[in-house]
Amino acid sequence: MHGRCSNSVTDAILNGRFKVKAFKKTFDLQNMSEKLKLRWNGHACFEISGSRTIIVDPFLEGNPKATRKKEDVRADIVVVTHGHEDHVGDALYIAKKNNAPIVTMVELAWLLKEKDNSLEIHDINYSGSVSIGKVKITAVPAYHSSSYGGKYAGNPGGMIIEMDGRVLYHAGDTGIFMDMELIGRMYHPEVAMLPIGGHYTMSPKEAAMAVGMIKPQLAIPMHFSTFPPIEQNPEEFKKEVEANSAGKVKIMSIDQTIEV
Ligand code: NI
Ligand code: MN
Repeated sequence: MHGRCSNSVTDAILNGRFKVKAFKKTFDLQNMSEKLKLRWNGHACFEISGSRTIIVDPFLEGNPKATRKKEDVRADIVVVTHGHEDHVGDALYIAKKNNAPIVTMVELAWLLKEKDNSLEIHDINYSGSVSIGKVKITAVPAYHSSSYGGKYAGNPGGMIIEMDGRVLYHAGDTGIFMDMELIGRMYHPEVAMLPIGGHYTMSPKEAAMAVGMIKPQLAIPMHFSTFPPIEQNPEEFKKEVEANSAGKVKIMSIDQTIEV
C-alpha cells in the first residue's frame, strides 16, 4: 500500500499534476479570504455578491418596509426557501428578467414551473445540493410550513450557500430545533441569517439559542418588524447572543450592504 502511494505521488510529480494541485490550493486559499458583499432588503431578502450575485427570498413588492425595486435587482441565481408569499415575492419576475435560475424545494419548484414553464428551476430537498457554476446551494430542514397560491408546497427549507470558499446559512422561516447543531457541525457556516420575529418563527430568545448550536462567526437577524405581529427589538437578540457565546451579531438596517 505504502509503495503504491509513493508511486502515485511520483507519478503526479512526473506528470506535472502535483504542480497543478499546489496551484489550485493557493488559488482556493486566495478565494477563501475574499469578502462577500451582503445587502439586506428587509424581511428575509438578502443579496449576496461575490463572483456571482444571489438573491434570497426576494419579497420586495408588497413589503411595506422595502425600498429596493424588483426592476433594479441584478442576480445570477434566485434562491427561495419556501412558498409563503413573503418569501417567493418577486422571484418569478427577477428570475425571468435576469435570465437566472431559481433554486428551491421540490414541490415549490413544481408549482413555480406551472406558473412559468420557461424558467430554469432547480428542485432540491434536505441534504441535497445543486451547483451552478461555482456556487453550491444545499437545502437543510426548517421547522415551518409551506404553501403557495393556496396549494401545499411541500417542506420548507433553509439554505446553505457556498461561494468563493465562503459558507452562509439562510435559515428561511423556522422554529428552533436540535438539528441546527448538526447544520453547524456539517457545514460550518461563517454567517447565519436567522429569523427573530416570533409569532411565525423563532423570537430573539430562541434565535440566540440557535446561534449557540450553529456557532457562526456572525449572526444577522431577519424576519422582524415588517408587520405588527413580528415586531421585535433586534438588540435583545444581540445582547442574548453576545452574553452567551463568542458569536457576533450584526443588526443590519434595510438597504445596508456589509462585507462579510
Ligand atoms: Ni413562512
Ligand atoms: Mn415568512
